Amino acid sequence: MGQEAAALFADLHARCFGAPWPEEDFDRLLASSGVVGLVLEADGEPAGLSLIRTIAGECEILTIGVARAAREKGLGRQLLTASETEARLGGARRMILEVSHTNTPAIALYDRAGYIEIGRRKAYYRDGSDARVLARPL
Ligand SMILES: CC(C)(COP(=O)(O)OP(=O)(O)OC[C@H]1O[C@@H](n2cnc3c(N)ncnc32)[C@H](O)[C@@H]1OP(=O)(O)O)[C@@H](O)C(=O)NCCC(=O)NCCS
Repeated sequence: MGQEAAALFADLHARCFGAPWPEEDFDRLLASSGVVGLVLEADGEPAGLSLIRTIAGECEILTIGVARAAREKGLGRQLLTASETEARLGGARRMILEVSHTNTPAIALYDRAGYIEIGRRKAYYRDGSDARVLARPL
């Protein structure tokens, strides 16, 4: 992983989220211990990404997203499954993530995949929404 990978992740992230992360953040994260980045292609083009970090048997999903034009075709589910497989290979026994309680598509994705709420952080996001902390055993 190098600058090229960081640029790819930053570009894809901007196609998935309203608040993009700078390339430097991806550069730093991709070089961090326990971090794995995944890119999913559709029709030969990068269409989705995830970034996961495994520490002491627990894997956190740092970010996961599908480009706007490629949504609701099963790619999010594929990315989540691939992330879980990578996590298992990295020694994780549990997945954990945070999601805004207003993020209906993401909550649907995690619900269908068997994630359950283990905590809630009140007014955690800038828009005032709560973070739901979800987890699933691997
Ligand atoms: C969340 C996200 C990754 C889902 O990706 P996707 O490729 O559209 O998801 P999938 O097509 O694999 O759908 C997975 C499940 O969620 C459901 N779902 C997806 N979008 C939905 C929506 N807008 N409303 C209701 N359900 C939805 C699907 O019906 C599917 O359920 P099923 O298996 O029972 O059919 C995508 O919406 C996204 O990138 N959002 C912006 C970034 C983001 O919020 N990431 C999560 C941060 S925690």
